[in-house]
Amino acid sequence: MKHVLLFFCFTFLLSCTSKTKQEETKEKKVYDMYEPSEMAILMNQMYAHNLKIKKEILAGEIPTEFPTDFLNIHTAELSDFKARNQKFQSFSALFVSAEKEIFNTASSLPIEDRFNNAVNVCISCHQTECTGPIPRIKKLLIQ
Ligand code: HEC
Repeated sequence: MKHVLLFFCFTFLLSCTSKTKQEETKEKKVYDMYEPSEMAILMNQMYAHNLKIKKEILAGEIPTEFPTDFLNIHTAELSDFKARNQKFQSFSALFVSAEKEIFNTASSLPIEDRFNNAVNVCISCHQTECTGPIPRIKKLLIQ
């Protein structure tokens, strides 16, 4: 019994110190607690890449290269609880073609509109099954 109590005191102390020691790594610690799926990793990369493209467009630059990694949306493994159904597949295809349009220098549409079209497909797909990240994705839109 004594040992058990000691053990609890010890773990309590440990958790307290790790918390106060590095408040700023709290977010990272939470992240470490689960293994993100291939799709979740890809989604975060797509988010970061599109943020970069947005900044380029706002700076007056014309991005020219379609990030081919985005094609992995067709094959990346989803979290266990999600299935790749028909709707998901058509949204994936729609998204890839909208994203490719951003880099179509022959297009008659302004680049801001083509970028926003692609982001709107992100949002449409998310409305069907994964609504959590939508507020964050909306921030990508060029106003
Ligand atoms: C074809 C549907 C579809 C499209 C298009 C799509 N997403 Fe996702 N997104 C998902 C699904 C499903 C998940 C959950 C993945 C999982 O849990 O395996 C997800 C997850 C996410 C996440 C959370 C990842 C995490 O850490 O858990 C973010 C952020 C995200 N998407 C952003 C985007 C952005 C930005 C775009 C457009 C550039 C986009 N998504 C396009 C379906 C889509």
